[in-house]
Amino acid sequence: MTDWFRTRTERVLLLTLPALLAACAAPVAPRTESARLGQPVANHERLNVFPDGRGLPPGHGNVAGGRELFARHCAACHGDAGQGGTAEELAGAKRPLNASSPDKTIGSYWPYATTLFDFIRRAKPMNAPGTLSADEVYALCAWLLHVNGVIDGDAVLDAQTLPAIPMPNRDGFLRIEAP
Ligand code: HEC
Repeated sequence: MTDWFRTRTERVLLLTLPALLAACAAPVAPRTESARLGQPVANHERLNVFPDGRGLPPGHGNVAGGRELFARHCAACHGDAGQGGTAEELAGAKRPLNASSPDKTIGSYWPYATTLFDFIRRAKPMNAPGTLSADEVYALCAWLLHVNGVIDGDAVLDAQTLPAIPMPNRDGFLRIEAP
């Protein structure tokens, strides 16, 4: 028993000693992965979804699934049909973009469908961001694009179909290339 204990203690000490020495020698470094000024944010690149679909995860979702999810997670603030409530309208634009106070909805204003995926995954629901699965985000995009009149009710969205959606206002923004 004593022998076993001694050997085990020795083994543990032997294993941890290099780590202890390294820890003493290492410069003081932040122990967490939290953002630091001037340093890239670790998760940033992984979460970005670009207009051409780069960054979209595997998974898929349809309009019917999105309707249920929206009722459960989003309607309280955005209204049953995304018409707006305590939070802004997401669908149902009536005043065009050239009106003096235009309705800027997903369907009337957003140039890329992929931005919707990026934004919902990153920021929604507002009271619990980051809790939706990829399938759920695809489904929410499908429902929102459907109620905006952009896609049919039987559409299924995934990493291939979402970037291929021609958004009504896709040519409404000027692309300024970096010099
Ligand atoms: C607690 C209230 C609340 C809930 C719940 C909520 N939102 Fe929002 N949402 C807001 C507010 C406030 C804004 C405007 C500020 C902002 O952009 O964050 C917004 C903005 C948005 C926008 C951007 C609108 C635009 O044109 O700029 C989208 C898209 C959106 N929400 C989708 C959703 C979806 C999808 C859900 C459910 C998964 C959801 N929201 C749940 C409050 C909420």
